[in-house]
Amino acid sequence: MKIVMLGAPGAGKGTQAERIADKYQIPHISTGDIFRANIKAGTELGKKAKSYMDQGLLVPDSLTVDLLMDRIGQADCKDGYILDGFPRTIPQAESLKKALSDKGEALDFAVNVDVPDENIVARMSGRRACPKCGATYHIAYAAPKKEGVCDKCGAELILRDDDKPETVANRLKVYHDQTQPLIDYYTKENILHTVDGTQDMEKVFADIVKILGA
Ligand code: AP5
Ligand code: MG
Repeated sequence: MKIVMLGAPGAGKGTQAERIADKYQIPHISTGDIFRANIKAGTELGKKAKSYMDQGLLVPDSLTVDLLMDRIGQADCKDGYILDGFPRTIPQAESLKKALSDKGEALDFAVNVDVPDENIVARMSGRRACPKCGATYHIAYAAPKKEGVCDKCGAELILRDDDKPETVANRLKVYHDQTQPLIDYYTKENILHTVDGTQDMEKVFADIVKILGA
């Protein structure tokens, strides 16, 4: 099963993708997580990506597409995967489509987690992330058992650099300009499904499972 998750920054793509990956036993691939891991490791890619991410801009396709193609070519992806945060532009979607069709494959589902801009800022300012294992929390909606500490690995939780309100506003603008057109794109491909992302996390997950099939 090959799935892409669409949705504004903070819509809950990562939260849901993690659960779906677990339920269907497929890898969860987040380009944002890959860039953050590179930033943390101090790689050249990380240095380049950080300068864009800190401004709320997209990392150029030239740095993103090969990285993703490489990842989905790995052995653990042979039975499918869930992509979270890729594609984010029409050229990225076209590159993915071509790479798959060259192998006689295609995406099965594009799941759009729909959350209006008004809800996004509150979500982002309350989000806490684990810099070690990547787990995501929210101080009000999904709090860790012990404040400021990751339930899964015990590391100290942080606020992401790009979750400052002024950067969030930029990310939303970039989303509407460059990523939202993918909703039409995947509607035309006949694989788009939209879920109401303002519901609680369990309900959003149940709606997605209905689409993907149990
Ligand atoms: P990326 O890491 O993908 O960030 P994003 O798309 O901005 O999305 P987020 O991770 O912020 O939100 P999410 O939808 O995963 O929400 P979450 O589940 O955490 O990308 C970061 C940057 O990397 C980009 O800006 C760009 O620069 C670069 N980049 C990445 N991919 C790229 C690409 N393909 N091309 C170019 N550049 C790329 O949830 C948010 C919060 O809300 C959490 O606290 C969560 O607990 C809470 N929450 C979730 N669901 C609910 C709910 N139902 N009710 C209440 N709270 C909820
Ligand atoms: Mg995410």
